[in-house]
Amino acid sequence: MLPDDRLPQQRRKAQLQLDAFTLVGIDGMTPGDGDLALGLDWLQAEATRTGAPFVTSNLLCGGQTPFPPLRRIDKDGVSVAILGILGEGETLPAGCEATAPAVALTAALAGLDAVDLVVLLSHQDPSLDEALAAAVPALDLVVNAGIGATTHPPKALPEAALQLAAGTRGKLLGLARIQLQPGGQGFASGGDLDDLERQLARARGRREKAVEDAAAAEGDAAQARARQRVGFYDGDIGRLESLIAAARTPQAAPSHLIENELLGLDVEVLDHAATAALLDAAKAEIEAAAAPVAVGPAAALNGPFVGSQVCSGCHVGPATQWATTAHARAWASLVGQARTQDQDCAGCHVTGAFHPEGPQAGEVVHEALRSVGCESCHGPGRAHVSDPAGSPLLRTPPATACIQCHDGVRDEGRFQLDAYMDKVRHHPTSPDPADPAL
Ligand code: HEC
Ligand code: HEC
Ligand code: HEC
Ligand code: HEC
Repeated sequence: MLPDDRLPQQRRKAQLQLDAFTLVGIDGMTPGDGDLALGLDWLQAEATRTGAPFVTSNLLCGGQTPFPPLRRIDKDGVSVAILGILGEGETLPAGCEATAPAVALTAALAGLDAVDLVVLLSHQDPSLDEALAAAVPALDLVVNAGIGATTHPPKALPEAALQLAAGTRGKLLGLARIQLQPGGQGFASGGDLDDLERQLARARGRREKAVEDAAAAEGDAAQARARQRVGFYDGDIGRLESLIAAARTPQAAPSHLIENELLGLDVEVLDHAATAALLDAAKAEIEAAAAPVAVGPAAALNGPFVGSQVCSGCHVGPATQWATTAHARAWASLVGQARTQDQDCAGCHVTGAFHPEGPQAGEVVHEALRSVGCESCHGPGRAHVSDPAGSPLLRTPPATACIQCHDGVRDEGRFQLDAYMDKVRHHPTSPDPADPAL
């Protein structure tokens, strides 16, 4: 939940997003739990102000549906129904609940005249879309914005439906070009085949390389890793072969065509200038309005965390190495992006945020606890500082410490335990010296 004093800043950003959407023009959007946390009244007012076409089929607030459960678009002789669902069990504002999706969708679709396409905007766990498509056969396309989902090419769901997803955090733009065929049933890939063939050739090449690496690898661990890669590519090759076979199988009834791409929104894609200017101005305003920063000696820090500088006095070797790592620059990364006040980022770019007595969301982060310090991995150190031998810390932080932050979502799955561990060890040649002060 968002603490109240941060709401205006969050709202300002959400409002920018809505303004950007109306600049682009859009036919349906489903707010998620993060949007609803901004307050239903505010969201409804913004929808009115911007004309944002919210659609929520399974949201009830005070027994009412705050947004239309279905939108019907009739354009250029084509009719499309758009529905939207939130995941059951998402944290929603008081008085609101997300009801069972299948029941809500069936109710929303009852009495709808025939349309050419039924599109569901799904904010639930992507793996649940399969059962939902089976329960609601009218669905044609399910566009999922749940955590971790990216599907390319589209994933087949029961009842000839397809799932599309472009991941989270606005890194990718999903583009689906659809060609409806008169009397068509279900979808066939149009143009995906070449792409699949290319992916297959690449996977085969990588498998060959992994086989060579396995033969050349020295040591059990290296061999096991190379064999694991071979196994991974075997699975990938099988998956691609069956997709290609399915794309080549002639269909009994004519089917609609779909081509789907995921476009990376990297620096090569120019920002919409007017929206980018609005965003920069809002970020500068938020940074300038930030609460004064807590500075001063670590003694002014309450709680069990003392900050890395205190540790560095005794552990010169580890501290010197740590200062060269990305962890020591984690706060600077937020400064660089004008996001120091964004509580969405603080959890992983400051020390101790996962600890109940560490800095909490919405609080000013003490200077000593900015960035990913010693205590992020070794645990809170106040007791250890006053009695090093009597209050030992974790000597070898386990992988579970890393994956609190390297969670496979924010870091886009880049974390690899062995390679990453090598970069954070303080003594690459002798990992566990007898003298910890080295
Ligand atoms: C769940 C933890 C987590 C949260 C929350 C998080 N980050 Fe990160 N961030 C990481 C990790 C882990 C990396 C390192 C990824 C890697 O290179 O393996 C990272 C890397 C970065 C980088 C370095 C460059 C890059 O893109 O890899 C920047 C900049 C950054 N984050 C900004 C942010 C901002 C801004 C926010 C808030 C909107 C945020 N982070 C929220 C964990 C997080
Ligand atoms: C990203 C996690 C991480 C951070 C941050 C980190 N360490 Fe470590 N530290 C480790 C790991 C992992 C080991 C165990 C190394 C091994 O097993 O080879 C370790 C080991 C140690 C040891 C045991 C002896 C040694 O030198 O290996 C000391 C002392 C130590 N760290 C101090 C510090 C201090 C002081 C800081 C901050 C300046 C710090 N660490 C920051 C992960 C971290
Ligand atoms: C006053 C000096 C001093 C300070 C400050 C200090 N340490 Fe230590 N640290 C030691 C000594 C001495 C040992 C060895 C204790 C032993 O082997 O009995 C040690 C051991 C360690 C170890 C190895 C595991 C263990 O506890 O034996 C780690 C990890 C460690 N310190 C991390 C830290 C971190 C993180 C901080 C800051 C929060 C810190 N130390 C602050 C003196 C200090
Ligand atoms: C408190 C959150 C947190 C924890 C715990 C954490 N990391 Fe990180 N890690 C980050 C963030 C944030 C970054 C990106 C810093 C930046 O560039 O802004 C990062 C970056 C890294 C990088 C640099 C990636 C690159 O190539 O740019 C490595 C390597 C790394 N972490 C390894 C580890 C390992 C291994 C552990 C566990 C022993 C660990 N981290 C624990 C948050 C964390």
